[in-house]
Amino acid sequence: MVCESNNKSYLKSQHLKIIGQNTLRGKVKISGAKNSALVLLAASLLTDEKIILDNVPLLTDIEKMGNILKSLGVKLHNKDNQLIIDSKNIFVQELPYELVNGLRASFFCIGALLTRFGEASIPLPGGCNIGKRPINEHINGLRALGAEIIIERDVVKAKLVEKKSKLFGANIRLNCPSVGATETLIMAASLAEGRTVIENAAREPEIQDLCQMLNKMGAEIYDSGKEKIIIDGVQKLHGCSHKVIPDRIEAGTFLIAAAATSSSITVSPVIPNHLEAVLNKLEESGSKIIKKGNSISIKSNKIKAVDIKTAPFPGFPTDLQAPFMALMTIAKGRSKITETIFENRMNHVELLNQMGGSITVKNNIAHINGVKKLRGKTLVGLDLRSSAALIIAALISKSVSHIYGLEHLDRGYENFELKLSKLGVPIQRETSNKIISKTKCKSSESIKKEISEIKAA
Ligand code: UD1
Repeated sequence: MVCESNNKSYLKSQHLKIIGQNTLRGKVKISGAKNSALVLLAASLLTDEKIILDNVPLLTDIEKMGNILKSLGVKLHNKDNQLIIDSKNIFVQELPYELVNGLRASFFCIGALLTRFGEASIPLPGGCNIGKRPINEHINGLRALGAEIIIERDVVKAKLVEKKSKLFGANIRLNCPSVGATETLIMAASLAEGRTVIENAAREPEIQDLCQMLNKMGAEIYDSGKEKIIIDGVQKLHGCSHKVIPDRIEAGTFLIAAAATSSSITVSPVIPNHLEAVLNKLEESGSKIIKKGNSISIKSNKIKAVDIKTAPFPGFPTDLQAPFMALMTIAKGRSKITETIFENRMNHVELLNQMGGSITVKNNIAHINGVKKLRGKTLVGLDLRSSAALIIAALISKSVSHIYGLEHLDRGYENFELKLSKLGVPIQRETSNKIISKTKCKSSESIKKEISEIKAA
């Protein structure tokens, strides 16, 4: 699937037809983590030897990242969920805007390219429709490692300072624990001269996965998963085989869907520790959770309202805020959901209200009055996780829903409808002649303005 096409516009005419009010039953196989796989692809640029990645999810975001690597001369060979990456014959050039614009994670290549080749040019990345998504932490950190960086006509141009042949280790303190900046700087520091210490680093499991793969490649990285990460630069990194960790966000989405439909399901494989904050909230809202090895089972019946506040790992993940809000629409009582990571990640509120939800938002805090029922609608998901939230709402709803915006959903969920269908949900992907406008389903002018083109988280 990787690198077959750039044009996914046909996805805009597809929708999921979902018949609501069914319970889910059975087991769901969880795919490899999108956010891990994306950064591991970027890390493959650090060596001229082969990297064999297993458990790579077949997603449009991964396909885009594959296309970006291909544009640099990387050879990719994939079979099912295994990807063999050969970065031997790379030619360093400015990454093409049309590829980078669709995928924010493409910017994470900057650290790897700069440290291996001494230069990198990347157009400013797109962001999802969820906030400004600045890159100052990446830039400041790379400058501390000795890079000269200018931004010219929306292209970030980085090179080593004159007469230096390498980046050099430094002490860097991030102002906010950015996942992407932590990853960029770990990759850049892995081939730098001397020791780098990153303080206030992000601790997300995907960062730990990156460090594990880099250490297999010969890097010397200590304390990943802690707030202070130490990287001793090495001369060269070599090839390795690595298996991408399970996608905690996909697993969380299915668990929330089960809770919302009073169902009992098991998700596997998962690393239960990665989902601790989410499992706590699911238990607090009335579900029974059973962890056994690499699987988690949930039994749900009546859901009561609970408050959540998103936070960097190990806190409640912002990527599950929208799905959890869909659950809270039918919970008994009033709940409060506070988004602290992104300033514009409440796109789903209007849409959930159109399905019968009772939610108001002020200052990035949603106040939800639980209702007894939702009703099926034709709606367009506006970003990746809000599309998942709409599908959960459709599962709860009376009657049929048609959910568009699958160009977002397919970025981050592998075979979503197939997995739901195996759990017993009457769900079908259909193609219609007309394309539903995403603004058609919105009522507020101010929100309309905020919705830009399809970009990636
Ligand atoms: C990653 C994930 C995304 C997830 C997010 C937060 C990938 C591909 N995407 O995105 O799914 O929602 O982490 O868990 O891994 N910030 C700055 N300056 C910077 C960088 C970030 O101020 O230079 C701010 C952002 O505006 C945001 C916060 O830091 O408010 C978190 O962003 P960050 O952790 O960088 O998110 P991403 O790495 O882009």
